Amino acid sequence: MPEPTANANDDPLNGPGPRADARGLKGDLLVLAGFAAAAALAVWLGFGQGSGDGPAAGTGGVAGTSLASRFVGDAACAECHPGPSAAHARSGHSMTLRPAAESKAAGLLDGRSFKDGEYEADWRFARRDGTLHLDRNSGGEVARFVVDYAFGSGKHATTFVSVVDQDTASASSIEHRLTYFAGRGGAGITPGQSQDTTVDPHELSPTGRNVNPEKTRDCFGCHTTLLCETGANRLDPATLIPNVSCERCHGPAREHVEAARKGRKGPPMPFGLGQSSADLQMRHCGFCHRHPEQAPPGEIHPDNPGIARFQPVGLMQSACYKKTPGGLSCTACHDPHARASTDAAVYEAACLSCHTAPAQAACPVSPAKGCVPCHMPPRDSGQDILFHDHWIRSPGPVRP
Ligand code: HEC
Ligand code: HEC
Ligand code: HEC
Ligand code: HEC
Ligand code: HEC
Ligand code: HEC
Ligand code: HEC
Repeated sequence: MPEPTANANDDPLNGPGPRADARGLKGDLLVLAGFAAAAALAVWLGFGQGSGDGPAAGTGGVAGTSLASRFVGDAACAECHPGPSAAHARSGHSMTLRPAAESKAAGLLDGRSFKDGEYEADWRFARRDGTLHLDRNSGGEVARFVVDYAFGSGKHATTFVSVVDQDTASASSIEHRLTYFAGRGGAGITPGQSQDTTVDPHELSPTGRNVNPEKTRDCFGCHTTLLCETGANRLDPATLIPNVSCERCHGPAREHVEAARKGRKGPPMPFGLGQSSADLQMRHCGFCHRHPEQAPPGEIHPDNPGIARFQPVGLMQSACYKKTPGGLSCTACHDPHARASTDAAVYEAACLSCHTAPAQAACPVSPAKGCVPCHMPPRDSGQDILFHDHWIRSPGPVRP
């Protein structure tokens, strides 16, 4: 599918928003068309950055000011918000990007080899002197790579990326050939890089995928809080703020913290209680987890398993969402600070908050329990990783 060229979806803080791309984990059957500027703006305007001094779409803030100076970092929140801080520190959001050598995956892969059958090459990982090295031996010819970044907590997978031309405004990157997969406890070909599954053949080389500057910013944009000091449309590895930190969702918090320390109420914190409507969550969470406006026409249909990976897209197709305007948000089922709970009772309680007579008809098959495996089953969206289908629907009539 062709890539849209319009850049209508700039995230004011993080440069260009999602666009058509193989992404880290490939198989995006939904090619992301980029969502309307209005969507991105609504999200960030909701951040109450104050009128006038907030970053304007696409410009990345007032010239000369360091947006970064308004961020205080996660550690500063723990003093007054121990609950969310402890949960967030253990969640995937706090581990979306780190120096490669510091990742758990690097420790697990250190000293291990992988045979690349597609190109008759042997790869070997080695962590030494605080750096992750990746060597490729093909018929005695050895190519050596230094890996800069690890993307993803590794709950499912960790993909390795190195930045090229770090100190220029047009940093591009290499998405390395090998990814760590938790499911198989070792390395495998990075999704989207197998010859038979590749999305962009022209970007592929036997050693990895060459990611252009724009897509590099997208990639880092979803896995960081700020791309560079001024928040501008630029990737600057020296000053980026990694991970989906507190301030990625709640906005820069320096003024909040300073006011709170003086016992005053600071400027409103976006996404505080009562300030995170379902629509805002669909757009904000959907900036990274994908929003239906990013999907080209025709991709959203019940038989597309790729949608399972894009929870806001699925959820918004559900009758549960459509028929309760504003009534079903991500936080109806998830603590936004924590890993997704694996306790079925949490989700059943959410279902039953609506699906209890007389308000709603109860389930004719199982009125009180077991909702998720039948109505939100895990599906393979195309990369050996299971995602729970957020398009809540009937699994079909029970046949005798
Ligand atoms: C549109 C935003 C977006 C872009 C662009 C993006 N990611 Fe992600 N990434 C996500 C989200 C959301 C998740 C969590 C859900 C999922 O796994 O799809 C994720 C998950 C991952 C994971 C799995 C983490 C785990 O263990 O669960 C890896 C690895 C990853 N991304 C790597 C990359 C790489 C490498 C790139 C760039 C080549 C990239 N991503 C670009 C949003 C994005
Ligand atoms: C010195 C104490 C202190 C620190 C440090 C602090 N906060 Fe708060 N925070 C408060 C207090 C008090 C409130 C409740 C009153 C208010 O809304 O200002 C609050 C409320 C909030 C709310 C809810 C706002 C609402 O409208 O419901 C959010 C979100 C929040 N803080 C985020 C953060 C983040 C993110 C950080 C770290 C970057 C942080 N806070 C650091 C004291 C603090
Ligand atoms: C800036 C991009 C971004 C935003 C905004 C975002 N997420 Fe995520 N989310 C990610 C990435 C990347 C991951 C993968 C984390 C990992 O590597 O394990 C993720 C993972 C998750 C997970 C799985 C967590 C786990 O550890 O089990 C849940 C649940 C989730 N996000 C919910 C939300 C909700 C709800 C919101 C909105 C309130 C939201 N996310 C906003 C990027 C984002
Ligand atoms: C992925 C987005 C996201 C991240 C990251 C995030 N929050 Fe929140 N936070 C939310 C949302 C959404 C709500 C509103 C919850 C609701 O309405 O039930 C919220 C609510 C809050 C509240 C008010 C309610 C409460 O639970 O006490 C505080 C305080 C808060 N967050 C602090 C933090 C701190 C501190 C961090 C970092 C350690 C953080 N948040 C990280 C999305 C996020
Ligand atoms: C905010 C309220 C709400 C929540 C929470 C909710 N639903 Fe629904 N659900 C509805 C409404 C309203 C309908 C539409 C009923 C109608 O058409 O009469 C619906 C419809 C359905 C349908 C029929 C869908 C179809 O396409 O025929 C199923 C199945 C369903 N819900 C299951 C669930 C399950 C399982 C959960 C929990 C994982 C859940 N719902 C959570 C409100 C909700
Ligand atoms: C009706 C309940 C419900 C709502 C609403 C909901 N989720 Fe989920 N979500 C679940 C369940 C159930 C799981 C699977 C938990 C487990 O692993 O057992 C899950 C898992 C996830 C995961 C982990 C990956 C996966 O798919 O298994 C992510 C990410 C996620 N949800 C994001 C979101 C986002 C973003 C929203 C809002 C657009 C949202 N969820 C709304 C029930 C819900
Ligand atoms: C063993 C699988 C299973 C479990 C467990 C289950 N359901 Fe169902 N559910 C079904 C099937 C199958 C149908 C479709 C029945 C039909 O159309 O004959 C259905 C239908 C429904 C409907 C549509 C009813 C209507 O009138 O159209 C709702 C709502 C629903 N389930 C909610 C739930 C909730 C909430 C739970 C958990 C408390 C739950 N289900 C647990 C299999 C299940």
